[in-house]
Amino acid sequence: MIRLIEGGLSDLDAVMAVMEASFDPRFGEAWTAAQCAGLLPLPGVWLSLARDETGAQGFALARIVADEAELLLLAVRHDAQRRGIGSLLLERFSRLARLRGATRLHLEVREGNQAIALYERAGFALAGRRRNYYSGPHGVSYDALTLARNTASGS
Ligand SMILES: CC(C)(COP(=O)(O)OP(=O)(O)OC[C@H]1O[C@@H](n2cnc3c(N)ncnc32)[C@H](O)[C@@H]1OP(=O)(O)O)[C@@H](O)C(=O)NCCC(=O)NCCS
Repeated sequence: MIRLIEGGLSDLDAVMAVMEASFDPRFGEAWTAAQCAGLLPLPGVWLSLARDETGAQGFALARIVADEAELLLLAVRHDAQRRGIGSLLLERFSRLARLRGATRLHLEVREGNQAIALYERAGFALAGRRRNYYSGPHGVSYDALTLARNTASGS
C-alpha cells in the first residue's frame, strides 16, 4: 500500500534512486544529488515521498516563495508508473502549497513529456514557454513549458 510522507535531506539516497529509475536520461531533466542536496535544506522547500513496503516509489520536490509555489520535480519509478502515484503526489503538492499560503501553483515541463496529460487533468494550463530549453538526442531541442493554475481551482 502506498503511503505519502514528508521527507528531507536524510532521504537523498531514496530520492536519487527514484530519479535514476524514472527520468528518461536522453533529455537532461533529472537533477544531480548535489543539486538536490543544495536545495533540500533551504527555507520554503519540501519533499513528499510515496513509499510502499519495499521503499520509495516516487517523490515530489517543491518550493514556495511568497504566495507562489513551484513543483520542481515529480517522479515515479518506471515499474510503479500508471498506478496513480504521480496523481497522488501532485494532489499532495497542491494541498500542502495551499496550506502554506500559496495562491498560485506553477511548474516547468519539457514539451512532449507524458506528464503534461497528468498536469492538465489537474487543472494546469499553459502560462509560458522557454524556447529550446532542453537538449534531446540527435541535436533536437525541446521547449520548456510553464504550466500554472490558482490553488482555488482543480484538486
Ligand atoms: C510523470 C510521472 C510522475 C507520472 O507518474 P504516474 O505514477 O505514472 O502517474 P499516474 O499513474 O497518476 O498517471 C496519471 C496520468 O498521466 C498520464 N501519463 C503518465 N505516464 C504516461 C505515459 N507513459 N504515457 C501516456 N500517459 C501517461 C496519463 O494521462 C495518466 O493517466 P492514466 O494512467 O489514467 O492514463 C511519471 O511518468 C514519471 O516519473 N516520469 C518521469 C519523470 C518526469 O518526467 N516527471 C515530470 C517532469 S518533472
